[in-house]
Amino acid sequence: MKYLIDTANVEEIRHCNEFYPLAGVTTNPTLIAKEKSDFWALLTAIRSIIGPEKALHVQTVQTTADKMVEEALLLKQRLGGEFYVKIPIGEESLKATMMIKKLGIGVTMTAIFNAAQALIAAKAGADFVAPYVNRLDNILGDGAQEVGEIVKLFATHRLDCKVLAASFKNCEQIHKCALAGCQTVTISADLFHTAISHPMTDVAINTFDKDWEALYGNKTILDF
Ligand code: E4P
Repeated sequence: MKYLIDTANVEEIRHCNEFYPLAGVTTNPTLIAKEKSDFWALLTAIRSIIGPEKALHVQTVQTTADKMVEEALLLKQRLGGEFYVKIPIGEESLKATMMIKKLGIGVTMTAIFNAAQALIAAKAGADFVAPYVNRLDNILGDGAQEVGEIVKLFATHRLDCKVLAASFKNCEQIHKCALAGCQTVTISADLFHTAISHPMTDVAINTFDKDWEALYGNKTILDF
């Protein structure tokens, strides 16, 4: 399973790119607006932090297929590398997906809330579908179960489309998606940190440090 970071904040991206096995970045209009920055300056800064080989998913803000295609071409041309245009599912979006795929540009169909939407997006040629796990959980759905169904459906029908699960608020949701065979998750910087934290890990490390220091003081192996 690959981990992406779901943010447009350059400091969070820089940090997670350095310290975690990060496969790329996803953004959406809300996340970009939150940064209150020049659009191209922000996106080119993100691309230069992660480099051309890591995935960058940027959402179109257009509502018609022709304009979505135009925007996808511009985004790909300006941001290059491993690039995916995110498009929220809809009729114009499916039409745009079929057109964009012919141009050789990656597509992530986003705002997915059920397996029927995911299956049609995959048939239109989307490379990824992005189901919103926490938003489903919030309305008494089961986000991880939906993710599992989509994974199974794509395998059953031998579709190349992958699941990029999004909208996470806790590590249990991520864990359940991983168990369900989800290929990619996009999570916040906070969740990366929470995922690796455990009070018993802190206790173990403190004991190692204390026992070592009792005999060797502040010397390290490099001093011997
Ligand atoms: C990602 O592609 C989605 O836009 C995002 O994960 C939605 O997350 P939210 O429900 O936390 O806004």
